[in-house]
Amino acid sequence: MTTALAPPPRVSPLTADLDFAGRRVLVTGAANGFGAAIADLFAAHGATLVLADQEADAVTAKAAAIGPRATAIVYDQADVASVERLAAAAGDVDVLVNNAGRLLTKPLLETSAAEIRGLIDVDLVGVMVLTPLLARGMVARGRGVVVNIGSQTAFCGGEGRGIYAAAKAAIAQYTRAAAVEWGPHGVRAVCVAPGRSITRMTRHVVAGPSGDRGLDRVPLGRWGSAEEVAKLVVFLASDAASYVTGETVIADGGYVIG
Ligand SMILES: NC(=O)c1ccc[n+]([C@@H]2O[C@H](COP(=O)([O-])OP(=O)(O)OC[C@H]3O[C@@H](n4cnc5c(N)ncnc54)[C@H](O)[C@@H]3O)[C@@H](O)[C@H]2O)c1
Repeated sequence: MTTALAPPPRVSPLTADLDFAGRRVLVTGAANGFGAAIADLFAAHGATLVLADQEADAVTAKAAAIGPRATAIVYDQADVASVERLAAAAGDVDVLVNNAGRLLTKPLLETSAAEIRGLIDVDLVGVMVLTPLLARGMVARGRGVVVNIGSQTAFCGGEGRGIYAAAKAAIAQYTRAAAVEWGPHGVRAVCVAPGRSITRMTRHVVAGPSGDRGLDRVPLGRWGSAEEVAKLVVFLASDAASYVTGETVIADGGYVIG
């Protein structure tokens, strides 16, 4: 008995999945580092962009450099009223990238309540206030993606960065909760957890006296780049990742598993 050969599986290239033409993307912390690279890559894939940052000159210049498909909004993620104004000004968005954040490098035994609050207000409260304000519209329209920027420190000791690591661990958990609550309405939530990558936030560490300390713990043997984070963010926000939700993808050159 002869069996007919099964036809090859039908696959289509990712080109159409990665086309963001006609989609509106809000990137917070878009003036520098990851946020600027994420904005550039979404723009290259045809998106219309809302770029938000506390640095007025830098975010305005970034939007101008991208061109007429980008607008800039100045806000302070530590200030709830300012975050609410950002959400109102941004309007409906298809993709929200919660990238704005700050670092606190201090041993736990020396960290004051004011310093803890200062970090949590930006890295946690601001995200948790902004996200539902924009996700409400996504849920109503039955589509949308939230991409949160976490950190590898959520998965390792985060020595000297314990408060930051705790905030980023909370972001990974918040992502799971959002995925479960909004998934039935067609809205995905994902998190990207970068390892140390060379941006303004970390430049002083990499260039400082400790230099490459810790690099021997990175199996790929180098620090990451903003472009590498941007590619992962755009992929996860795209239809190419349409069945991925609640997941935190660690992009750390293998540090956490090493
Ligand atoms: N660089 C790394 O190695 C690394 C690793 C893991 C995670 N991260 C995370 O990636 C994100 C981006 O970091 P980056 O390295 O690009 O840093 P960066 O300092 O280069 O850029 C951060 C941007 O966020 C903005 N921002 C900070 N506080 C703000 C506030 N209160 N209101 C509005 N905007 C604010 C800044 O103005 C800046 O433009 C952060 O959430 C950070 O925690 C960075």
